[in-house]
Amino acid sequence: MSFIWLFLASYLLLVSGQTSDQEILDVTSDIWNAAEAAGTFFSDTECQYDVNAGPGSFFTYVDETRLQSHTYGPHVDLLDNYITVTGTEDPCDLSCEGERSDYLDLLTATDAMNLAREFLGARNSSLLDPVVWKNYLYNLWFSPYTRTGGTMDSSGFEHVFLGEIDDNSAKGYHGWVKAYKDEQTGAFEYLGNDDLCQPDTPKFSMNYVVDGTSYHKSTTSMMIKAPPEVELAFFTICKFTRSNRVCTVTVGGPIQDIQTYDNDCSSEPQYGCIGSAYFIC
Ligand SMILES: *[C@@H]1O[C@H](CO)[C@@H](O)[C@H](O)[C@H]1NC(C)=O
Repeated sequence: MSFIWLFLASYLLLVSGQTSDQEILDVTSDIWNAAEAAGTFFSDTECQYDVNAGPGSFFTYVDETRLQSHTYGPHVDLLDNYITVTGTEDPCDLSCEGERSDYLDLLTATDAMNLAREFLGARNSSLLDPVVWKNYLYNLWFSPYTRTGGTMDSSGFEHVFLGEIDDNSAKGYHGWVKAYKDEQTGAFEYLGNDDLCQPDTPKFSMNYVVDGTSYHKSTTSMMIKAPPEVELAFFTICKFTRSNRVCTVTVGGPIQDIQTYDNDCSSEPQYGCIGSAYFIC
């Protein structure tokens, strides 16, 4: 009897084109392993942090040379293209568009992102085409949308990897590279640990300091030492298969939950854009 139900459930999953929890666990495991094999994670010596630290001393050491290499350098290049206070548009001129394009070219050349492309391409075959895939990623992460009812002041990339000031508080802010860079200038204040999930995923409270004003965020999380292609691949897969829901992934052995949220965006309304994406920890 139960066998029949199991069979029926699997069959329904198959014909409805849905993705099982196990398939997501498997592909994220493969992606993690591919990035690890490519040597793209920061090692424990290349990146050190202290969850018991006070403001200004969270990152105790980060290898600056590594931050300029691989996909990290192009990721850093994107960070100065944004005005993170909402209410103001983020214009992207030719050089900014060039940086986005270079970034996506490098990302989509990684084994990690190719695994994501194949996985999602099995669910929508047009994504197998490298041009369509790059365009899809561009729209998902870089297409602007509004958080303030008019001005195109936000995007998935800005919210997740930079963080934003909205409603007088800090929001998003899940990028460890941005946090490290901001700590150098005093713009990131680590305020203490709530939890430390494995591997290297602290959950903590913080201030984001912009133009001399501190904006508080009571809880944020980030996956330290992970390269952009792993974060992008995981968040994109979760957005596609578990939109606005919890998505369970494998992070090098341990299991973690990711939450994504959609936001309206006109470029690909059938998908929407990334409103947010983060490790629940
Ligand atoms: C498949 O992906 C393409 C490219 O993003 C998109 O235009 C199309 O609507 C998608 N098809 C379905 C059925 O979602």
